[in-house]
Amino acid sequence: LSGSGKSTTAEVLTTLLLEHGRQATVLDGDVVRTHLSKGLGFSKEDRDINIRRIGFVASEIVRHGGVVICAAVSPYRATRNDVRNMVGPDRFVEVYMDTPLEVCEQRDVKGMYAAARRGEIKGFTGIDDPYEPPENPEIRLETVEHTPEENAAFILQYLINAGLVRAQESLSSEPSEATAE
Ligand code: ADX
Repeated sequence: LSGSGKSTTAEVLTTLLLEHGRQATVLDGDVVRTHLSKGLGFSKEDRDINIRRIGFVASEIVRHGGVVICAAVSPYRATRNDVRNMVGPDRFVEVYMDTPLEVCEQRDVKGMYAAARRGEIKGFTGIDDPYEPPENPEIRLETVEHTPEENAAFILQYLINAGLVRAQESLSSEPSEATAE
């Protein structure tokens, strides 16, 4: 959902990945919509085109060995699963930011929920437009109980456990003990 904490968590994760020697591309929904998807609206059709474009770019990045964080609303389960297949299921990690609508609405960072409630924005996700929560996301995060730092660290640990990112010795100037690998 809008205001669920996608962009903030993505930002912290980007820094953590850099500390692990991986540079990540972030495809943030709001940014994508000002460039790659400029002119698209919020009908089901336009949202699907938007997410498929993000998925296409992501799949190209991954195909060339890169890391990409897609921080978009992506309300439709079927479309997310199509993108999962575009990227390749073994390299696609779906992260569900499980923030209750009431909390997103209370945060209302951009004042959009208030505008949607006043009827000034029509078809707003979670208010008068659907959001289909993932049934089996690889990762489910809570943003009421956990900070963005904790959540980003959780994603990183998942990537390390999955063998997608290499665990790193601390980056201190102290010479670290050699480990047999
Ligand atoms: S999607 O719906 O196409 O999958 P995307 O992440 O690109 O999502 O855009 C969602 C962002 O667009 C929200 O964070 C919000 O800032 C803005 N927005 C503007 N109008 C709407 C709307 N009707 N529904 C949802 N988000 C909207």
